[in-house]
Amino acid sequence: MSESAMVAIGRDYPIADNLFAERVVSVRHYTDRLFSFRITRPASFRFRSGEFVMIGLPNAEKPVFRAYSIASPAWDEEIEFFSIKVENGPLTQHLQKIAPGDRVLMRKKPTGTLVLDALLPGRRLYLLSTGTGVAPFASLIRDPETYEKFEEVVLVQTCRLRAELDYISELVAGLADDPLIGELSAGKLSLYTTTTREQSQRMGRVTDLMRSGRLFDELGLPPISADTDRAMICGSMAMLNETKDILEAFGLVEGANNAPATFVVERAFVG
Ligand code: A2P
Repeated sequence: MSESAMVAIGRDYPIADNLFAERVVSVRHYTDRLFSFRITRPASFRFRSGEFVMIGLPNAEKPVFRAYSIASPAWDEEIEFFSIKVENGPLTQHLQKIAPGDRVLMRKKPTGTLVLDALLPGRRLYLLSTGTGVAPFASLIRDPETYEKFEEVVLVQTCRLRAELDYISELVAGLADDPLIGELSAGKLSLYTTTTREQSQRMGRVTDLMRSGRLFDELGLPPISADTDRAMICGSMAMLNETKDILEAFGLVEGANNAPATFVVERAFVG
């Protein structure tokens, strides 16, 4: 399909009942592999912080949809996403080129297990991620309910390179001045970031750092206990499986929306 045909379809796209067609508000590229963008939020769209939604582009008769965790909190007037760029990715090869004013399609029904309701009450919440798996946690750390339910929140992200940590590092640094979350998160939220393929202040995979106990030592925390600690995991399939085993060895049990327990899991989606 030619570029002009795509634009024409974009303008006159026949919107199905289950779809929103929103405008891109802003885009920021972090590296040649990662970018974030914000779109307008339909007034009727409701979701719980940590959920995901299917998004696509109006560039074909049958658009390709992929699951994207919503990175903005439930109270935000816009919707934010944090995405990988895959050279031949059916969606991301196009999505990485979006600019303000472009349209993005979004299915109306959000869903997901990385929600506070899927966890039993606890004292400390671990949010464990690799790469774009940090997106649902970017939502949860901006939700007041997270701090109402937990006394302490530990957000962990492992990436290959230092620049890939900028998204979450800048977001967390900015929380101090946030009129809604600043005071709530002060002294409660810790960010623990690591790299694996570039020298940085802290190196190693989240999994190895948990197994060796270094993560807990450096945070000044006791090892994970089912009595006090709850966790959410979001990353690649291999990371999920390993982290799940580690949490289970600490005595945590996987939960779901209809059966809250002590940890929950969601795959970080790639497209
Ligand atoms: P590594 O560089 O050792 O592969 P990706 O960009 O490929 O999604 O990876 C994001 C981060 O997740 C990388 O730092 C990568 O480390 C790390 N990673 C990959 N597999 C695992 C795993 N099984 N457990 C923990 N971290 C992992």
